[in-house]
Amino acid sequence: MSKITRQQCIEMDLKDPLSSYRKHFSLPENTCYLNGNSLGVRPIAAKQRVQDVVEREWGEDLIRSWNTNDWIHLPRRLGDKISTIIGAQAGEVIVADSTSVNLFKLAAAAIKLNPGRRKIITEPGNFPTDLYILQGLKNFLGDQVELVVCPVDEIPDAIDEDTALVVLTHVHYKTGRMLDMSDMTSRAHNKGALILWDLSHSAGAVPVKLNDVNADLAIGCGYKYLNGGPGAPAFLYVAKRHQSTLEQPLSGWFGHSNAFAMLDDYQPAPGIERTLCGTTSVIGASVLEVGVDIMANADMAQIRKKSIAMADLFIELVESYCDGFGFTLASPKDAAIRGSQVSLIHPQGFAIMQALIARNIIGDYRAPDILRFGFTPLYLRYVDIWDCVDALANIMSEESWNSEEFKKLTRVT
Ligand SMILES: Cc1ncc(COP(=O)(O)O)c(C=O)c1O
Repeated sequence: MSKITRQQCIEMDLKDPLSSYRKHFSLPENTCYLNGNSLGVRPIAAKQRVQDVVEREWGEDLIRSWNTNDWIHLPRRLGDKISTIIGAQAGEVIVADSTSVNLFKLAAAAIKLNPGRRKIITEPGNFPTDLYILQGLKNFLGDQVELVVCPVDEIPDAIDEDTALVVLTHVHYKTGRMLDMSDMTSRAHNKGALILWDLSHSAGAVPVKLNDVNADLAIGCGYKYLNGGPGAPAFLYVAKRHQSTLEQPLSGWFGHSNAFAMLDDYQPAPGIERTLCGTTSVIGASVLEVGVDIMANADMAQIRKKSIAMADLFIELVESYCDGFGFTLASPKDAAIRGSQVSLIHPQGFAIMQALIARNIIGDYRAPDILRFGFTPLYLRYVDIWDCVDALANIMSEESWNSEEFKKLTRVT
């Protein structure tokens, strides 16, 4: 079979219906950025937005901005926009805190929503913060909670009458494997359990239909496929049917039904606002809004189509140009169960990734042996995929990864 050429990739780019989105993003010259699954790139308009929020809204309007520039409704306004990306209704999503903190709030709330049940089930190898937060919650609540860590394919059978909550990441951060959200949600519900989905690698990456699958709770990052910037605030979702009874433990004043009445006693807000804790990170949320606006305006069916095409192209190129170099595929080959990334396994993964990064081909490495490549259809081109695999093949054939400079472990990989 003949190998796909660079010219063929250029021709694919010419026919790409999403190609006009690239101009909304600031990409450094001569860089192939395949790490939008970890930190999305900067929307061009983010710079102007930061300047405006810092100079005018903060600098000139000062505290009046809570009303005049509507800072007070920023978490909800942004949540409503994100709800359109993840198949929820307005009033079911809000922007707040970090993904980790939101997981704590909602997992603790779920235990109370499902009284008389003790088990929280999750999978080993889930993103570390998800495991750590659940361990922390278990330690905090003692015998009220039993944490069951069970291989994902065995979870449907492990859910029982004592299960309060199942916590799963929809698209796995290492392998990119995508779970069947509809099936897993109904299996949890059949046993009376609630389910909480971590959408960090899904929101803006793959179609998500929280309402259609009847999901209970969800959380996710703002700085990956939503392009909200480093440390952007996160989002959370609570299905309408749970909102009036949901009690979350971080009962701060922003979740109060009337924060500025300055009352001594906590009274939760009636809707999704009860999941808020303290003051919104206004600058962070304002920048996130720029990324969300671009994403909310794009066609998710087209994004998914291009994401699959890019990932399939990457796999085919690696198979044809990198054969014999010791890579194995860590991600599903079947696009139907794969998110928007492809991971390769190689025992020298760290050094190989450093050698790629030295050539401005940016992916990342996850210990002990995974190289991750993320596909972000709004700003990546097919030719970027070709250039990435071409560089990978060169690094392997020349063994340039085998140099001391690429073996020095950095704090962040
Ligand atoms: C699945 C998943 N959950 C949570 C997080 C991170 O959460 P936080 O923003 O609180 O650091 C990540 C970060 O990569 C992630 O991949």
